[in-house]
Amino acid sequence: MTTWPLHGLRLGCREVSLRPVREADLPALAAILPADFEQDPRLELFPGLSDEHNQRRLFYQGYWKALGTWSPSSWVLHFAVAYRGELIGVQTLEGDDFPVLRTVDSASWLVPEVRGRGLGVAMRTAVLGLSFDHLGAVAAVSSAVAGNAASLGVSRRIGYTDNGVGLIAVPGGGVAELQHLRLTAEAWQTAGHGRTVTVDGLEPCLPWFGLI
Ligand SMILES: CC(C)(COP(=O)(O)OP(=O)(O)OC[C@H]1O[C@@H](n2cnc3c(N)ncnc32)[C@H](O)[C@@H]1OP(=O)(O)O)[C@@H](O)C(=O)NCCC(=O)NCCS
Repeated sequence: MTTWPLHGLRLGCREVSLRPVREADLPALAAILPADFEQDPRLELFPGLSDEHNQRRLFYQGYWKALGTWSPSSWVLHFAVAYRGELIGVQTLEGDDFPVLRTVDSASWLVPEVRGRGLGVAMRTAVLGLSFDHLGAVAAVSSAVAGNAASLGVSRRIGYTDNGVGLIAVPGGGVAELQHLRLTAEAWQTAGHGRTVTVDGLEPCLPWFGLI
């Protein structure tokens, strides 16, 4: 029996393949972390580090925190995304009170060189296929600052609909508008996106999601 079966999980959608980030991936992924990937603005920055160094440090700590605090009632799964044999970004899937709420949230980033060719849609579709067709999710939510056309574009392309707006504090003291979106299991099934997704290695992971 594998003690940590999540490392054996494999997802695919069209040209991208996804596997959970491993500690050995951290240097390579941190080295390609794009400048426009926004960490949670509530995270503390170390004054002695450059912005870039803080971003990379927070990326490492996000990985360790996700593994160290995993429980079926609160989990964060970071997937390394590969395309043509290269790591190109990270797709994150999250669930809070998932056994009860059956709702997932997501976040992602890609290196700038491969954006705009549908890979953002493919990697989000992969984790939604896992969520709706294998974990029994009833809804997926997403949020993006109002000016993030690429993130909103991914959500709308897949069929999320607007679910209200909120405000978020930004570094330096300002406030930004956050667009919330939601996709139901019914809309996902009607669109038939799941046909493009492959999921392997899930069965031993089911207790991690509170499903056995
Ligand atoms: C968000 C991100 C992962 C999307 O990936 P992508 O590969 O660029 O997106 P896709 O090519 O799959 O495009 C998805 C949709 O958004 C649209 N889109 C993409 N970039 C766009 C832009 N800059 N302006 C307007 N629309 C855009 C596309 O046209 C497409 O819609 P369509 O299929 O209806 O034409 C990527 O742009 C990124 O890493 N951004 C920086 C990090 C970030 O902001 N992450 C999200 C917040 S966590």
